[in-house]
Amino acid sequence: MRRLLTAFVLLLPMIALASESGYPLDEMEPDLHDKASLQRGAKTYLNYCMGCHSLQYQRYIRTADDLGIPHDLMLEHLIFDPNVQIGDLMENSMSIESSKNWFGAAPPDLTLYSKLKGGPEYVYTYLRGFYEDPDRPFGVNNTVFENVGMPHVLVELQGLQRYVCKQVPKLTENGTKTRDRKTLQYVTEEKCGAELKEIGGSPLELVEGTGTLTPEEYDQVVYDLSNFLYYIAEPVRLERQRIGVYVLLFLAFFYVLTYLLGREYKKDFH
Ligand code: HEC
Repeated sequence: MRRLLTAFVLLLPMIALASESGYPLDEMEPDLHDKASLQRGAKTYLNYCMGCHSLQYQRYIRTADDLGIPHDLMLEHLIFDPNVQIGDLMENSMSIESSKNWFGAAPPDLTLYSKLKGGPEYVYTYLRGFYEDPDRPFGVNNTVFENVGMPHVLVELQGLQRYVCKQVPKLTENGTKTRDRKTLQYVTEEKCGAELKEIGGSPLELVEGTGTLTPEEYDQVVYDLSNFLYYIAEPVRLERQRIGVYVLLFLAFFYVLTYLLGREYKKDFH
């Protein structure tokens, strides 16, 4: 039983790291202590995503205070609608009906997204997973979200990626490479998509010179964005963890007291 439980606990992260589409997710470790990253993420979000995806369960003022952004700077540089006040909810004026017509699906509100639907790894992989597909209305498809209705809004930064298949050495069941008996060359096979990703390759290739950022810079932008969405799904996370430590310390302290008290009571029975 214990072995079963251990196996289950060890397997949990693996279950979490495969997306619905079966495409393995890229690893990313959110860091809520990195305020600079969260501020950059908020900036990118408000510039590139807010027009379509609201964050309607949070107010601007809370975001500004949590991330250490002064209210006047927030109003001046990050809030583009002059009618919006710092205490307003982070809504946008996209109507569900017209967006359905434009994209085939309405862009969902993303306040709770990172908690309910995709974790931070999912958002990270998704934003790195757009590739060229002339059959789609906006000319792009996505590795984790097949036939997605969203255009690749960060394409000017990242550049365009192409979906490629690669020849890789064919492995036997024991994981060794196989050679052709006659030519003694390694036998190869073609792998694409998730299968290629699983063996450590990448099915996406950047078309040189199409983006303004290097791949590392782009990864950082997307990391910051995913980190920000992780924060906004549960703004009190750090606070909760801090209080949790005190609660556990209290319980530990209380345990000692209870134990001593119990020992006193026991004396009466013997
Ligand atoms: C031009 C409008 C538009 C912009 C700008 C936009 N999106 Fe989207 N997004 C959409 C639409 C439409 C969908 C729904 C796609 C579908 O269901 O096929 C979507 C879906 C998503 C999803 C997946 C939701 C799901 O159902 O799993 C995520 C995550 C997402 N967008 C993140 C972002 C982020 C981050 C940005 C900013 C970098 C952004 N989007 C900018 C239109 C937009």
